[in-house]
Amino acid sequence: MNQDQLKRAVAEAAAAYIAPKLESDTIVGVGTGSTANLFIDCLAELKGKFDGTVASSEASAERLKAHGIPVYDLNAVDDVLVYVDGADETDAHLALIKGGGAALTREKIVAAVAQEFVCIADESKWVPVLGNFPLPVEVIPMARSHVARELVKLGGDPVYRQGVVTDNGNAILDVHNLQIRTPIALEEQINNIVGVVTNGLFAARNADVLLLGGANGVETIRA
Ligand code: A5P
Repeated sequence: MNQDQLKRAVAEAAAAYIAPKLESDTIVGVGTGSTANLFIDCLAELKGKFDGTVASSEASAERLKAHGIPVYDLNAVDDVLVYVDGADETDAHLALIKGGGAALTREKIVAAVAQEFVCIADESKWVPVLGNFPLPVEVIPMARSHVARELVKLGGDPVYRQGVVTDNGNAILDVHNLQIRTPIALEEQINNIVGVVTNGLFAARNADVLLLGGANGVETIRA
């Protein structure tokens, strides 16, 4: 199977994983990116078996609405049963790097609210140590240079993602050349830099379940 087929297989697996949990009042959290898009298409098949969704980006909200799936403001819902999203990298503890699609802040918010976080990924995302994929950091625009200097002190090489404005109106710095051996500590350290909105390490709130697509099918891995 090629990478697109693996992404489709994990999207289908996620729909099968959540289907027995759905009830008429269930809210499903939906992530962002090419794998999450395929999950949205599978979720459309389950329409009517749950109440609606909260989306982690404007792009995902548009795709959900195009399928006729209700999308709620997160402030209007009491509970998110499950959050399904892709990742740019995952380690064996299901700590993740996310934000390749610049949606990291809303993704982290929905993941924080959800009872269960199901990550869907093809095997190219599985790494022994996080950091080969540049770590996205969302920053308030006026703080961009300050944050970049602080990230250099932490040993990274931040690169401004030119031309990208997040759904929240902010900028992204992609931090290259990190070997992230203590992801929870680094996540907290970066969040403590003034001007950082959030960073793409999902370690303090990691995934609960990983559906990993590979040559031998989809493997279910728990944190
Ligand atoms: C979006 O901001 C990201 O966190 C995505 O979830 C991540 O980049 C995975 O994207 P793909 O499914 O497109 O690889």
